[in-house]
Amino acid sequence: MSSDINDTTGLSRLFHLNSEPWVNENLRPNAPFSQETKNDPNAARIALPDTAAGTIDRLASARRSTRAFADTPLALHDFAALLRAGYKTLGPDKMEGGMQALRRPVPSAGGLYPLEIYALVRNVDGLAKGIYHYDSKADDLEIVHEGPWESQARDAFLTWSFVAEAPVVLCIGAVFARTQRKYGPRGYRYILIEAGHVTQNLCLAATDMTLSSLCLGGYSDSVLNDLIGLDGLTEAIIYAVGLGAAAHSD
Ligand SMILES: Cc1cc2nc3c(=O)[nH]c(=O)nc-3n(C[C@H](O)[C@H](O)[C@H](O)COP(=O)(O)O)c2cc1C
Repeated sequence: MSSDINDTTGLSRLFHLNSEPWVNENLRPNAPFSQETKNDPNAARIALPDTAAGTIDRLASARRSTRAFADTPLALHDFAALLRAGYKTLGPDKMEGGMQALRRPVPSAGGLYPLEIYALVRNVDGLAKGIYHYDSKADDLEIVHEGPWESQARDAFLTWSFVAEAPVVLCIGAVFARTQRKYGPRGYRYILIEAGHVTQNLCLAATDMTLSSLCLGGYSDSVLNDLIGLDGLTEAIIYAVGLGAAAHSD
């Protein structure tokens, strides 16, 4: 069954608001750990040739989550490089049909770029503790909130202890209408996919700088949106990632 075709956001908004962490009693967060892959023992098979690892392969293989960040500051230079690797505005460039448009280091459905990056800064050299918004076009930081923010963040993140020492937690906001006014309900999928593109860039850029990352999906939407000043409807945080040096490499 489909929703009203003229309602471009209703169905996805219903889903979004009803997917706060573990609201469904039928879920099994403590289900036995099992990693399945698809494998047909009867299939005819073709072996793949050996390949030399390229830059992305090396970075992707080296990336792993850390759950113990060192209490050492992140250099402002590295922080800036991470933001730029994630979502800096590039261009202008020629797009389909000869149209001139700005680009980013990630693909985006329709070239609409629905995402915004917010930084919960705890320990970045030369930057006061606070919450910042990365203005990707101006390539600078807007101050959202000056001063400590951890007490509310502790209530937002389900695995707060893993990121409590992280010098910075980047939160990916989605301005849903930018994509959904063109793509409707399906645009919601595109927005989530695009957050994955940005976050992977952040993780690989961090690995390249011998920094570590922890991707975070376990948080209370309402508490985190409220902390950053988003209404959760027109714009909401859809992903987060802690970044910084690891306390130890295991
Ligand atoms: C969408 C998503 C959400 C995640 N949320 C959390 C989280 O809330 N807390 C956490 O400790 N790890 C979280 N992780 C990290 C995964 O547990 C981790 O990536 C996985 O165990 C694989 O390990 P690796 O990243 O070291 O390769 C998340 C990962 C993804 C992709």
